[in-house]
Amino acid sequence: TVDVTVPALSLVALVGISGSGKSTFARRLFGPHEVLSSDAFRAMVSGDENDQSATADAFELLFAVAGKRLDRGLLTVVDATHVQPEARRKLVALARAHDVLPAAVVLDVPEAECAARNAARPDRQFGRGVLRRQSDQLRRGMRSLAKEGFRSVTVLRSAAEVDAARLVRTP
Ligand code: CTP
Ligand code: MG
Repeated sequence: TVDVTVPALSLVALVGISGSGKSTFARRLFGPHEVLSSDAFRAMVSGDENDQSATADAFELLFAVAGKRLDRGLLTVVDATHVQPEARRKLVALARAHDVLPAAVVLDVPEAECAARNAARPDRQFGRGVLRRQSDQLRRGMRSLAKEGFRSVTVLRSAAEVDAARLVRTP
């Protein structure tokens, strides 16, 4: 069993392609108000969690809420893919601006498994190209997370590891 160790006051980025199980993992290990999901914020501003044109507005609000929580000393998890370096850079900058530690939890689940899961979801009927692209981006970025500024990095290397992982909050 892998321990996911995060500082008690941290800004946690889940990192993983669509279908890797980020939202399921977050629901199991964190409190409902600790998790800010990009899909939920997209839905709030546009009425549709898949409306990509709402992404910028959604993240602006998500980051505003995250900042308020961090200023109150509350651990916050961002449930978004974070496969793009730019997305991770913004998260690290937000953590630094609020004097908390940025942590990364990578859900490295095989693309084929994620595709099979998504095929069963009514709300994730995008083509295989999307997953392919996300997977390539994830591969390229995975080794450099510590260099990007993440102070704690945990890589879960299979769906089984994701499902069994335990959360450890360090003081
Ligand atoms: N799932 C599963 N077994 C797991 C984890 C997830 O069957 N151990 C299923 C979920 O029920 C869901 C799908 O796989 O139907 C994707 O899981 P989810 O947690 O929603 O993945 P995310 O990474 O959050 O996907 P997205 O980026 O699209 O939100
Ligand atoms: Mg999700």
